[in-house]
Amino acid sequence: MKVTLITGASSGIGEAFARRLAEEKHNLVLVARSETKLHELCDELMLQHGIIAHYVTLDLTEFEADTKLFEETEKHGFEVEWLINNAGFGSMGDFAELDLERELQMVDLNISALVALTHRYLPKMREQKKGVIINVSSTASFQAIPFMATYAATKAFVTSFSEAVAEENRPFNITVTAVCPGPTETNFFAASKAVPFSAKGMQTPEAVVAKALKAVKAKKPLVISGITNYIGAVLGTIAPDSLVTRVVGNVLRPKLKEKK
Ligand SMILES: NC(=O)c1ccc[n+]([C@@H]2O[C@H](COP(=O)([O-])OP(=O)(O)OC[C@H]3O[C@@H](n4cnc5c(N)ncnc54)[C@H](OP(=O)(O)O)[C@@H]3O)[C@@H](O)[C@H]2O)c1
Repeated sequence: MKVTLITGASSGIGEAFARRLAEEKHNLVLVARSETKLHELCDELMLQHGIIAHYVTLDLTEFEADTKLFEETEKHGFEVEWLINNAGFGSMGDFAELDLERELQMVDLNISALVALTHRYLPKMREQKKGVIINVSSTASFQAIPFMATYAATKAFVTSFSEAVAEENRPFNITVTAVCPGPTETNFFAASKAVPFSAKGMQTPEAVVAKALKAVKAKKPLVISGITNYIGAVLGTIAPDSLVTRVVGNVLRPKLKEKK
């Protein structure tokens, strides 16, 4: 059975992807750590939309999590035609003072799990000459962000990696799209112990998903969700890096107090 696998589907943007794609009759495999939320969401989507929705409770930072997930999908005869690498989190603070274990877990989740799952599921997509991979990156990927140093760097990796893999797989009729949301109304800031640049102008996860799916349809390798985010990203790439980093640092430095 062909399925769409979504990581980080228990809340926020991942959950919005699950709801929207269930409406579009995709069969789903939902992955996250929160078993109850995944269980309830699968039951609801199966009942509402007459699809198959399977969940896997898994911490993607665990050793060999990608192998476990791949074995689980193989065991059930699921053919992953769409892969949505969405699970991720951030942190905020002076890098030297942040918890190292948590920073490394972020690298494991935002980068290693995404790379491993892409590598696991690509060969079958190539065989079938069909597939979609959506990697949820961020507008944070377009510049260094002092006080969110590791997070921004992980997302810079995701955007760069996705654009390269998109080009490699174009001849195989596989669309790879990096989706770059700006601040979005999800659990992200609570989970990341962070505060947004501004409380105004947050997008809904549904708007991010709608933009992502439009980009996939147009086979775009990169999409920035929201016009303000788009303008911010473009300005950030035009201005000298040292200036952008200084300005962003000056905006975020006082926010560290707000966070405490
Ligand atoms: N919200 C924003 O402002 C924003 C902006 C730009 C980019 N993004 C990106 O959007 C993506 C989704 O985040 P969100 O905003 O929707 O935040 P969210 O509501 O906190 O969702 C994060 C999801 O990732 C899952 N997750 C976290 N750690 C995990 C782990 N170790 N193993 C497996 N699953 C894990 C969470 O589920 P469990 O806790 O149940 O495991 C949850 O389903 C992330 O990659 C984030 O970087 C968000």
